[in-house]
Amino acid sequence: MDDTQRTLIEKAERAHRLSEEELASLLADDAAEEAMAAAADRVRRAFVGDEVHLRGLIEFSSYCRQNCMYCGLRRDNEKAQRYRLTPEEIVALAEKAKAAGYPTVVMQSGEDVWFTAERLAAIVREVKALGLTVTLSVGERTREEYRALREAGADRFLLRIETTDQALYERLDPGMSYENRVRCLADLKSLGYEVGTGCLVGLPGQSVASLARDVLFFQSIDADMVGIGPLVPNGDTPLGDVPAGDMRLVRRVAAAIRLLLPEANIPATTAMETLLPGARELMLRSGANVMMPNVTEGEARQKYALYPGKACVADTPAHCRACMEGRIQAMGRTVGQGAGGRRRAL
Ligand code: 5AD
Ligand code: SF4
Ligand code: FES
Repeated sequence: MDDTQRTLIEKAERAHRLSEEELASLLADDAAEEAMAAAADRVRRAFVGDEVHLRGLIEFSSYCRQNCMYCGLRRDNEKAQRYRLTPEEIVALAEKAKAAGYPTVVMQSGEDVWFTAERLAAIVREVKALGLTVTLSVGERTREEYRALREAGADRFLLRIETTDQALYERLDPGMSYENRVRCLADLKSLGYEVGTGCLVGLPGQSVASLARDVLFFQSIDADMVGIGPLVPNGDTPLGDVPAGDMRLVRRVAAAIRLLLPEANIPATTAMETLLPGARELMLRSGANVMMPNVTEGEARQKYALYPGKACVADTPAHCRACMEGRIQAMGRTVGQGAGGRRRAL
Protein backbone atom coordinates (compact mmCIF):
# COMPACT_ATOMS: atom_id res chain seq x y z
CA MET A 1 0.00 0.00 0.00
CA ASP A 2 1.42 3.39 -0.91
CA ASP A 3 1.41 6.58 1.15
CA THR A 4 -1.55 8.08 -0.70
CA GLN A 5 -3.73 5.16 0.40
CA ARG A 6 -2.44 5.41 3.95
CA THR A 7 -3.31 9.11 4.00
CA LEU A 8 -6.81 8.38 2.69
CA ILE A 9 -7.45 5.83 5.44
CA GLU A 10 -6.24 8.30 8.08
CA LYS A 11 -8.52 10.96 6.65
CA ALA A 12 -11.50 8.60 6.67
CA GLU A 13 -10.79 7.58 10.25
CA ARG A 14 -10.55 11.20 11.38
CA ALA A 15 -13.17 13.00 9.26
CA HIS A 16 -15.49 10.16 8.16
CA ARG A 17 -15.55 11.60 4.65
CA LEU A 18 -14.12 10.46 1.35
CA SER A 19 -14.90 11.30 -2.27
CA GLU A 20 -16.20 8.67 -4.65
CA GLU A 21 -12.80 8.47 -6.35
CA GLU A 22 -10.94 8.12 -3.06
CA LEU A 23 -13.29 5.43 -1.85
CA ALA A 24 -13.10 3.53 -5.14
CA SER A 25 -9.31 3.55 -5.05
CA LEU A 26 -9.34 1.98 -1.58
CA LEU A 27 -11.97 -0.58 -2.51
CA ALA A 28 -9.89 -1.59 -5.54
CA ASP A 29 -6.76 -2.12 -3.47
CA ASP A 30 -6.22 -5.54 -1.87
CA ALA A 31 -3.13 -4.15 -0.16
CA ALA A 32 -5.21 -1.53 1.70
CA GLU A 33 -7.43 -4.15 3.33
CA GLU A 34 -5.69 -4.75 6.66
CA ALA A 35 -5.14 -1.04 7.32
CA MET A 36 -8.78 -0.27 6.41
CA ALA A 37 -10.07 -3.03 8.68
CA ALA A 38 -7.83 -1.91 11.57
CA ALA A 39 -9.01 1.71 11.22
CA ALA A 40 -12.65 0.55 11.01
CA ASP A 41 -12.15 -1.57 14.13
CA ARG A 42 -10.90 1.50 16.05
CA VAL A 43 -13.83 3.61 14.83
CA ARG A 44 -16.22 0.81 15.82
CA ARG A 45 -14.80 0.69 19.31
CA ALA A 46 -14.84 4.50 19.73
CA PHE A 47 -18.40 4.99 18.48
CA VAL A 48 -20.38 1.83 19.31
CA GLY A 49 -18.11 0.07 21.80
CA ASP A 50 -17.30 -3.57 22.37
CA GLU A 51 -20.87 -4.84 22.61
CA VAL A 52 -22.12 -7.18 19.90
CA HIS A 53 -25.89 -6.88 19.62
CA LEU A 54 -27.85 -10.02 18.85
CA ARG A 55 -31.11 -9.89 16.89
CA GLY A 56 -33.31 -12.96 16.75
CA LEU A 57 -34.20 -13.56 13.10
CA ILE A 58 -37.63 -15.03 12.33
CA GLU A 59 -38.04 -16.07 8.70
CA PHE A 60 -41.80 -16.30 8.58
CA SER A 61 -42.70 -16.79 4.92
CA SER A 62 -40.82 -17.96 1.84
CA TYR A 63 -43.48 -16.76 -0.61
CA CYS A 64 -42.40 -13.84 -2.76
CA ARG A 65 -44.14 -11.91 -5.54
CA GLN A 66 -40.81 -10.57 -6.84
CA ASN A 67 -38.37 -12.22 -9.17
CA CYS A 68 -34.86 -11.05 -8.26
CA MET A 69 -32.38 -12.86 -10.50
CA TYR A 70 -30.08 -13.94 -7.65
CA CYS A 71 -32.58 -15.05 -5.03
CA GLY A 72 -33.88 -18.56 -4.33
CA LEU A 73 -37.25 -17.21 -3.18
CA ARG A 74 -37.97 -15.57 -6.58
CA ARG A 75 -41.46 -16.39 -7.78
CA ASP A 76 -40.32 -18.29 -10.89
CA ASN A 77 -38.22 -20.71 -8.85
CA GLU A 78 -40.34 -23.83 -8.92
CA LYS A 79 -37.86 -25.67 -6.77
CA ALA A 80 -38.31 -23.27 -3.88
CA GLN A 81 -40.06 -24.85 -0.93
CA ARG A 82 -42.77 -22.46 0.11
CA TYR A 83 -44.07 -22.14 3.64
CA ARG A 84 -45.91 -19.54 5.63
CA LEU A 85 -45.94 -19.52 9.42
CA THR A 86 -49.21 -18.66 11.10
CA PRO A 87 -49.44 -15.49 13.17
CA GLU A 88 -49.55 -17.72 16.28
CA GLU A 89 -46.36 -19.50 15.23
CA ILE A 90 -44.62 -16.17 14.61
CA VAL A 91 -45.58 -14.84 18.03
CA ALA A 92 -44.48 -18.12 19.63
CA LEU A 93 -41.04 -17.78 18.00
CA ALA A 94 -40.83 -14.21 19.28
CA GLU A 95 -41.57 -15.50 22.78
CA LYS A 96 -38.76 -18.02 22.41
CA ALA A 97 -36.43 -15.29 21.18
CA LYS A 98 -37.27 -13.29 24.26
CA ALA A 99 -36.70 -16.29 26.52
CA ALA A 100 -33.33 -16.84 24.84
CA GLY A 101 -32.41 -13.28 25.81
CA TYR A 102 -32.68 -11.50 22.45
CA PRO A 103 -34.03 -7.96 22.99
CA THR A 104 -34.82 -7.49 19.29
CA VAL A 105 -36.54 -9.70 16.76
CA VAL A 106 -36.22 -9.26 13.02
CA MET A 107 -39.33 -10.50 11.23
CA GLN A 108 -38.30 -11.28 7.67
CA SER A 109 -40.13 -12.74 4.68
CA GLY A 110 -40.33 -12.61 0.91
CA GLU A 111 -42.86 -10.13 -0.42
CA ASP A 112 -45.83 -12.26 0.60
CA VAL A 113 -49.19 -10.63 -0.16
CA TRP A 114 -51.00 -12.86 2.35
CA PHE A 115 -49.43 -10.71 5.03
CA THR A 116 -51.42 -7.54 4.49
CA ALA A 117 -50.43 -4.53 6.57
CA GLU A 118 -53.44 -5.28 8.76
CA ARG A 119 -52.37 -8.87 9.47
CA LEU A 120 -48.77 -7.82 10.03
CA ALA A 121 -49.82 -4.97 12.31
CA ALA A 122 -51.75 -7.39 14.51
CA ILE A 123 -48.66 -9.59 14.85
CA VAL A 124 -46.43 -6.58 15.53
CA ARG A 125 -48.78 -5.48 18.36
CA GLU A 126 -48.54 -8.89 20.01
CA VAL A 127 -44.77 -9.04 19.69
CA LYS A 128 -44.42 -5.49 21.04
CA ALA A 129 -46.57 -6.50 24.01
CA LEU A 130 -43.80 -8.98 24.90
CA GLY A 131 -41.51 -6.00 25.40
CA LEU A 132 -39.36 -6.70 22.34
CA THR A 133 -37.93 -4.27 19.83
CA VAL A 134 -39.39 -5.12 16.43
CA THR A 135 -37.56 -4.91 13.14
CA LEU A 136 -39.48 -5.68 9.95
CA SER A 137 -37.93 -6.88 6.71
CA VAL A 138 -40.88 -7.51 4.41
CA GLY A 139 -40.03 -5.54 1.29
CA GLU A 140 -41.71 -2.75 -0.58
CA ARG A 141 -45.02 -1.35 0.66
CA THR A 142 -46.93 1.89 0.34
CA ARG A 143 -46.32 4.78 2.69
CA GLU A 144 -49.73 4.13 4.25
CA GLU A 145 -48.82 0.51 4.99
CA TYR A 146 -45.48 1.56 6.47
CA ARG A 147 -47.36 4.09 8.59
CA ALA A 148 -49.83 1.48 9.86
CA LEU A 149 -46.98 -0.85 10.81
CA ARG A 150 -45.13 1.95 12.57
CA GLU A 151 -48.29 2.83 14.48
CA ALA A 152 -48.62 -0.83 15.46
CA GLY A 153 -45.22 -0.43 17.12
CA ALA A 154 -42.60 -1.55 14.60
CA ASP A 155 -39.34 0.20 15.50
CA ARG A 156 -37.00 -0.59 12.65
CA PHE A 157 -37.12 -1.67 9.02
CA LEU A 158 -34.54 -3.36 6.80
CA LEU A 159 -34.65 -2.84 3.05
CA ARG A 160 -31.44 -3.23 1.12
CA ILE A 161 -31.04 -1.00 -1.90
CA GLU A 162 -29.06 -3.99 -3.32
CA THR A 163 -27.15 -1.68 -5.70
CA THR A 164 -27.32 2.05 -6.47
CA ASP A 165 -26.60 1.36 -10.14
CA GLN A 166 -30.13 1.94 -11.41
CA ALA A 167 -29.67 0.08 -14.70
CA LEU A 168 -28.13 -2.90 -12.92
CA TYR A 169 -30.86 -2.84 -10.26
CA GLU A 170 -33.64 -2.86 -12.82
CA ARG A 171 -31.95 -5.63 -14.81
CA LEU A 172 -31.42 -7.89 -11.80
CA ASP A 173 -34.72 -7.11 -10.06
CA PRO A 174 -37.03 -7.27 -13.08
CA GLY A 175 -40.33 -5.47 -12.68
CA MET A 176 -39.04 -3.45 -9.74
CA SER A 177 -38.21 0.23 -9.90
CA TYR A 178 -35.12 1.78 -8.35
CA GLU A 179 -37.05 4.96 -7.79
CA ASN A 180 -39.70 3.17 -5.77
CA ARG A 181 -37.06 1.51 -3.63
CA VAL A 182 -35.51 4.89 -2.81
CA ARG A 183 -39.02 6.19 -2.09
CA CYS A 184 -39.59 3.33 0.36
CA LEU A 185 -36.39 4.17 2.24
CA ALA A 186 -37.29 7.87 2.42
CA ASP A 187 -40.82 7.06 3.65
CA LEU A 188 -39.48 4.71 6.32
CA LYS A 189 -37.05 7.35 7.57
CA SER A 190 -39.66 10.10 7.66
CA LEU A 191 -42.08 7.85 9.54
CA GLY A 192 -39.53 7.54 12.33
CA TYR A 193 -38.25 4.02 11.73
CA GLU A 194 -34.63 3.23 12.32
CA VAL A 195 -33.72 2.30 8.77
CA GLY A 196 -31.39 -0.43 7.66
CA THR A 197 -30.24 -0.84 4.10
CA GLY A 198 -27.29 -2.40 2.32
CA CYS A 199 -26.04 -3.94 -0.87
CA LEU A 200 -24.88 -7.13 -2.47
CA VAL A 201 -21.21 -7.41 -3.39
CA GLY A 202 -20.30 -9.34 -6.51
CA LEU A 203 -23.24 -8.66 -8.79
CA PRO A 204 -22.29 -9.24 -12.43
CA GLY A 205 -21.37 -5.88 -13.95
CA GLN A 206 -20.85 -4.14 -10.60
CA SER A 207 -17.68 -2.02 -10.35
CA VAL A 208 -15.75 -0.67 -7.35
CA ALA A 209 -16.93 2.80 -8.40
CA SER A 210 -20.50 1.55 -8.11
CA LEU A 211 -19.78 0.10 -4.64
CA ALA A 212 -18.22 3.44 -3.65
CA ARG A 213 -21.46 5.14 -4.70
CA ASP A 214 -23.41 2.57 -2.63
CA VAL A 215 -21.42 3.54 0.48
CA LEU A 216 -21.94 7.25 -0.21
CA PHE A 217 -25.66 6.57 -0.67
CA PHE A 218 -25.82 4.90 2.78
CA GLN A 219 -24.14 7.99 4.18
CA SER A 220 -26.42 10.39 2.32
CA ILE A 221 -29.62 8.81 3.67
CA ASP A 222 -28.08 8.62 7.16
CA ALA A 223 -28.70 4.86 7.36
CA ASP A 224 -29.00 3.57 10.92
CA MET A 225 -27.98 0.08 9.93
CA VAL A 226 -26.12 -1.26 6.91
CA GLY A 227 -26.02 -4.95 6.03
CA ILE A 228 -23.90 -6.19 3.19
CA GLY A 229 -22.91 -9.58 1.94
CA PRO A 230 -21.36 -11.40 -0.99
CA LEU A 231 -23.54 -12.74 -3.74
CA VAL A 232 -23.79 -16.49 -3.15
CA PRO A 233 -24.81 -18.04 -6.46
CA ASN A 234 -27.97 -20.09 -6.25
CA GLY A 235 -28.19 -22.85 -8.91
CA ASP A 236 -31.98 -22.56 -9.03
CA THR A 237 -31.78 -18.95 -10.26
CA PRO A 238 -30.66 -17.25 -13.49
CA LEU A 239 -27.47 -16.13 -11.68
CA GLY A 240 -26.60 -19.68 -10.70
CA ASP A 241 -23.36 -19.74 -12.69
CA VAL A 242 -21.78 -16.44 -11.72
CA PRO A 243 -18.79 -16.44 -9.37
CA ALA A 244 -19.45 -15.79 -5.69
CA GLY A 245 -18.77 -12.32 -4.36
CA ASP A 246 -15.17 -11.71 -3.29
CA MET A 247 -14.94 -11.96 0.49
CA ARG A 248 -11.97 -9.64 0.61
CA LEU A 249 -13.88 -6.97 -1.27
CA VAL A 250 -16.84 -7.46 1.07
CA ARG A 251 -14.50 -6.88 3.99
CA ARG A 252 -13.17 -3.65 2.46
CA VAL A 253 -16.72 -2.45 1.79
CA ALA A 254 -17.71 -3.21 5.40
CA ALA A 255 -14.66 -1.34 6.70
CA ALA A 256 -15.48 1.61 4.42
CA ILE A 257 -19.05 1.67 5.77
CA ARG A 258 -17.77 1.84 9.36
CA LEU A 259 -15.30 4.59 8.45
CA LEU A 260 -17.95 6.73 6.75
CA LEU A 261 -20.94 5.88 8.99
CA PRO A 262 -19.25 5.57 12.39
CA GLU A 263 -22.51 5.30 14.37
CA ALA A 264 -24.23 2.71 12.21
CA ASN A 265 -25.11 -0.79 13.30
CA ILE A 266 -23.35 -3.19 10.96
CA PRO A 267 -24.14 -6.91 11.05
CA ALA A 268 -21.68 -9.69 10.36
CA THR A 269 -24.01 -11.51 7.97
CA THR A 270 -24.66 -15.20 7.47
CA ALA A 271 -23.86 -15.01 3.75
CA MET A 272 -20.23 -14.33 4.65
CA GLU A 273 -20.10 -17.25 7.04
CA THR A 274 -21.52 -19.42 4.28
CA LEU A 275 -18.58 -18.67 1.99
CA LEU A 276 -15.90 -18.72 4.67
CA PRO A 277 -16.28 -20.31 8.11
CA GLY A 278 -15.11 -17.83 10.73
CA ALA A 279 -15.98 -14.87 8.51
CA ARG A 280 -18.34 -13.45 11.10
CA GLU A 281 -15.44 -13.00 13.52
CA LEU A 282 -13.38 -11.44 10.77
CA MET A 283 -16.19 -8.99 10.07
CA LEU A 284 -16.63 -8.19 13.77
CA ARG A 285 -12.96 -7.18 13.73
CA SER A 286 -13.40 -5.09 10.57
CA GLY A 287 -16.18 -2.74 11.65
CA ALA A 288 -19.22 -4.93 12.33
CA ASN A 289 -21.03 -4.92 15.70
CA VAL A 290 -24.22 -6.97 15.22
CA MET A 291 -25.15 -10.61 14.60
CA MET A 292 -28.52 -11.95 13.58
CA PRO A 293 -28.91 -15.52 14.87
CA ASN A 294 -31.75 -17.37 13.24
CA VAL A 295 -34.53 -18.37 15.65
CA THR A 296 -36.68 -20.03 13.00
CA GLU A 297 -37.24 -23.67 13.90
CA GLY A 298 -37.81 -26.97 12.14
CA GLU A 299 -38.48 -27.31 8.42
CA ALA A 300 -38.86 -23.59 7.79
CA ARG A 301 -35.23 -23.11 8.74
CA GLN A 302 -33.94 -24.92 5.66
CA LYS A 303 -36.78 -23.89 3.35
CA TYR A 304 -35.92 -20.19 3.60
CA ALA A 305 -33.20 -20.66 1.01
CA LEU A 306 -32.10 -17.38 -0.54
CA TYR A 307 -28.81 -19.05 -1.40
CA PRO A 308 -27.38 -22.57 -0.89
CA GLY A 309 -25.20 -23.78 1.96
CA LYS A 310 -26.53 -21.26 4.45
CA ALA A 311 -24.57 -21.45 7.69
CA CYS A 312 -26.39 -22.90 10.72
CA VAL A 313 -29.42 -24.39 8.86
CA ALA A 314 -28.77 -27.72 10.56
CA ASP A 315 -28.30 -26.20 14.01
CA THR A 316 -30.97 -25.41 16.57
CA PRO A 317 -31.70 -21.87 17.78
CA ALA A 318 -30.45 -22.82 21.26
CA HIS A 319 -27.20 -24.15 19.82
CA CYS A 320 -26.59 -20.94 17.81
CA ARG A 321 -27.35 -18.80 20.85
CA ALA A 322 -24.69 -20.57 22.92
CA CYS A 323 -22.28 -20.72 19.99
CA MET A 324 -22.52 -16.99 19.31
CA GLU A 325 -22.13 -16.02 22.91
CA GLY A 326 -19.00 -18.17 23.14
CA ARG A 327 -17.58 -16.74 19.94
CA ILE A 328 -18.22 -13.16 21.06
CA GLN A 329 -16.58 -13.71 24.42
CA ALA A 330 -13.63 -15.51 22.87
CA MET A 331 -12.98 -12.31 20.91
CA GLY A 332 -12.89 -10.26 24.10
CA ARG A 333 -16.20 -8.60 23.23
CA THR A 334 -19.48 -8.68 25.16
CA VAL A 335 -23.05 -9.59 24.26
CA GLY A 336 -25.03 -6.37 23.91
CA GLN A 337 -27.42 -5.40 26.67
CA GLY A 338 -30.64 -3.63 25.79
CA ALA A 339 -32.16 -2.83 22.41
CA GLY A 340 -28.88 -1.73 20.83
CA GLY A 341 -30.40 0.98 18.66
CA ARG A 342 -28.62 3.65 16.68
CA ARG A 343 -26.28 5.69 18.82
CA ARG A 344 -25.75 9.35 18.09
CA ALA A 345 -22.43 10.90 18.90
CA LEU A 346 -21.65 13.19 15.99
N1 5AD B 1 -26.72 -14.36 -2.18
C1 5AD B 1 -26.53 -13.47 -1.19
N2 5AD B 1 -27.52 -12.67 -0.71
C2 5AD B 1 -28.73 -12.79 -1.26
N3 5AD B 1 -29.89 -12.14 -1.02
C3 5AD B 1 -30.84 -12.63 -1.84
N4 5AD B 1 -30.32 -13.60 -2.62
C4 5AD B 1 -29.00 -13.71 -2.30
C5 5AD B 1 -27.92 -14.51 -2.76
N5 5AD B 1 -28.08 -15.41 -3.74
C6 5AD B 1 -29.99 -11.04 -0.06
C7 5AD B 1 -30.58 -9.77 -0.68
C8 5AD B 1 -31.79 -9.48 0.16
C9 5AD B 1 -31.47 -10.21 1.45
C10 5AD B 1 -32.64 -10.55 2.28
O1 5AD B 1 -30.83 -11.39 1.00
O2 5AD B 1 -29.63 -8.72 -0.57
O3 5AD B 1 -32.00 -8.10 0.40
FE1 SF4 C 1 -38.18 -11.69 -3.00
FE2 SF4 C 1 -36.37 -10.38 -1.51
FE3 SF4 C 1 -35.71 -12.64 -2.81
FE4 SF4 C 1 -36.14 -10.39 -4.21
S1 SF4 C 1 -34.48 -10.73 -2.70
S2 SF4 C 1 -36.97 -12.45 -4.71
S3 SF4 C 1 -37.82 -9.43 -3.01
S4 SF4 C 1 -37.18 -12.46 -1.14
FE1 FES D 1 -25.11 -21.23 14.46
FE2 FES D 1 -22.53 -21.20 15.51
S1 FES D 1 -23.95 -19.57 15.22
S2 FES D 1 -23.80 -22.91 14.94
